[in-house]
Amino acid sequence: MTRHFLSLLDFTEAEHRRILQRAEVLRQGYAQGERPQTLQHRVLAMIFEKASTRTRLSFEAGMAQLGGTAIFLSPRDTQLGRGEPVEDSARVISRMVDAVMIRAKDHEMVERFAAYSRVPVINALTDLNHPCQLLADIFTYEQHRGSIRGKKVAWIGDGFNMCHSYINAAQVFDFELRIATPKGYEPDPAIVAAAGARVHLVESAAAAAQGADLLVTDVWASMGQEEERERRLKDFADYRIDAALMARAAPDALFMHCLPAYRGEEVTAEVLDGAQSVVWDEAEARLHTQKALLEFLILGDVPG
Ligand code: CP
Ligand code: NVA
Repeated sequence: MTRHFLSLLDFTEAEHRRILQRAEVLRQGYAQGERPQTLQHRVLAMIFEKASTRTRLSFEAGMAQLGGTAIFLSPRDTQLGRGEPVEDSARVISRMVDAVMIRAKDHEMVERFAAYSRVPVINALTDLNHPCQLLADIFTYEQHRGSIRGKKVAWIGDGFNMCHSYINAAQVFDFELRIATPKGYEPDPAIVAAAGARVHLVESAAAAAQGADLLVTDVWASMGQEEERERRLKDFADYRIDAALMARAAPDALFMHCLPAYRGEEVTAEVLDGAQSVVWDEAEARLHTQKALLEFLILGDVPG
């Protein structure tokens, strides 16, 4: 059966561990100039309905570094954008490539594509979740601090796609997650409930940050929410991560943000550019973890 990566919950913890271990091998090798050609002549199709810097670059560069090719497809240039059914597009595209990566608004579109695809489909962000980013975030936390199991993570901000993937991650990697959002911006209760007692919604950013090992946030207005921006700036005003909030966390706490970040909105420049921030390693980790993900899905397992 064709495996897909639409959510972190599509893989077992053991599978995630194999991918993360392989990513570390790839990271170290890459730094030494190694370019293993494990995906030689393999092709990834990349469908982007929304903008991207990190995701496009990491998948495209990652395929090239492993000896393969990536093809960028935007709705402006494909028949998908002119109304060709997703089911037909999936059947055609998946006959010509080895894997497909999709960034879309509707998660359901990606699920439908996957249902009709002969090859693995990777969710590269939908309005529901962003699992690829979580591979990079877990990898980055562990690169700096060791196992995330049992750690306290504070999600402060919008209960949207990134928050949902953090909830899934708490379930897979078994850490405690405290979520602080303004009223009306809570995550999907069904996703919260599925994660069990590890995930708590708390009443303030301070309560989430208290004693935390990792503080994470995301933009206040995600792609597609630009018109709500002014209202959101007001609604989220008490949820900015600043030095005072960081001071409530554990002394060796880390700060992460999937980027792009808006200094002075969801995070101050002092925190984003400060000593506890690992956002640049986090961005780089997209490259290594997705190379391991591509190997896992295209080859059936990671090499070695
Ligand atoms: N973090 C992330 O997915 O960034 P891009 O939108 O630039 O791909
Ligand atoms: N929540 C953000 C994440 C961007 C990587 C968005 O959906 O725009």
